[in-house]
Amino acid sequence: MNIPYGRQHITQEDIDAVIKTLTSDFLTQGPKVQEFEEKFARYVNATYAVAVANGTAALHLCTLALGVNEKSKVISTPITFAASSNCVRYCGGTVEFADVDPTTILLDINKVKKLLQSSPKGTYDGIVAVDFGGYPLDLESFRKLADEYNLWIIEDACHAPGGYFTDSQGKKQLCGNGTFADLAIFSFHPVKHIACGEGGMITTNDKKLYEKLLLLRTHGITKNPAQLKENHGGWYYEMVDLGFNYRLTDMQCALGISQLTRADAGLQKRQAIAQKYDQAFRGSAAQIIIPPSGISHAYHLYIVQVKNRKALYDVLREKGIFAQVHYAPVHTMPYYQQLGYKKGSMPVAESYYEKCLSLPMYPTLTEQEQDFVIKSVLENI
Ligand SMILES: Cc1ncc(COP(=O)(O)O)c(C=O)c1O
Repeated sequence: MNIPYGRQHITQEDIDAVIKTLTSDFLTQGPKVQEFEEKFARYVNATYAVAVANGTAALHLCTLALGVNEKSKVISTPITFAASSNCVRYCGGTVEFADVDPTTILLDINKVKKLLQSSPKGTYDGIVAVDFGGYPLDLESFRKLADEYNLWIIEDACHAPGGYFTDSQGKKQLCGNGTFADLAIFSFHPVKHIACGEGGMITTNDKKLYEKLLLLRTHGITKNPAQLKENHGGWYYEMVDLGFNYRLTDMQCALGISQLTRADAGLQKRQAIAQKYDQAFRGSAAQIIIPPSGISHAYHLYIVQVKNRKALYDVLREKGIFAQVHYAPVHTMPYYQQLGYKKGSMPVAESYYEKCLSLPMYPTLTEQEQDFVIKSVLENI
């Protein structure tokens, strides 16, 4: 019996939905795309959503739409998947990492503040903030800071669909709802909450950015008569910007729509699994992250921090438990090292990396499997 750290959940309804699309008129650019966008926007309580090929394409389109270029400087977190900062590099911009908070492992607002205060105003353009592991970042505080320095915010919410934090007015703020971030992005890779095989979504409340994203998703091509310089007839289109083919197919959107109907149930299961892990590990040598009340953690990952991480990883593997490490800090990757980023510069992130291990966390994890994981961890730390 092998137990991975994450796994998709595909039902007969999902399969039927995809097959129905396969036999319809549209495999791509058909009605399922808009339906998925509208339903997903509603799910995260945002005004607009743009479906794209994957989460990385979503990030790239965001930096393009926000005008990132060779002169741009953008702040991000070292504890995330590399795509969160790579999107700045795609546009030639510079990434400045700020260390994480040791209790949440999220971008530390005080470190960001220090960075901003130590440079003249106008040095930085924006922040890529990540709801790492599914822990919703307090974007209200980040927005206040960003407004002081005239910065945009991209929320990388790949790990957190359905998660929320409670703002200073007592209002629930769903991840990706566009209240505080200019743009938010999601991934539908199979280990994520909603699986499309590959897939991504951008959400926003900004109409101008939304229209720009639609254009950039499809080569920068428009057929909208109001935007055309000339008009030669019904076939005519113009390429008005340098865009990409970052579209998501109707087949994938059909799967996404079907998966979305079970998103709340899946999230509740993840939270129940986390509660059981919390109870088992509280007071043990495994350090755990427990969010305060008012925060609904989306638990893409359940992370423990242990002194003997490598030994625990190996012993779990021998037992068929495929735990994972999220993440080796981005600034320590060879690509970033050769750009001049230094090991030792982000002590909290680097120390976290030495200890972290993501345990199995997915809605179909059974009670017996979880009991086996808990027992195996407790016996080996
Ligand atoms: C935090 C984060 N951002 C971005 C991405 C990129 O998403 P995708 O794999 O869909 O390109 C991922 C995927 O692993 C991720 O975990």
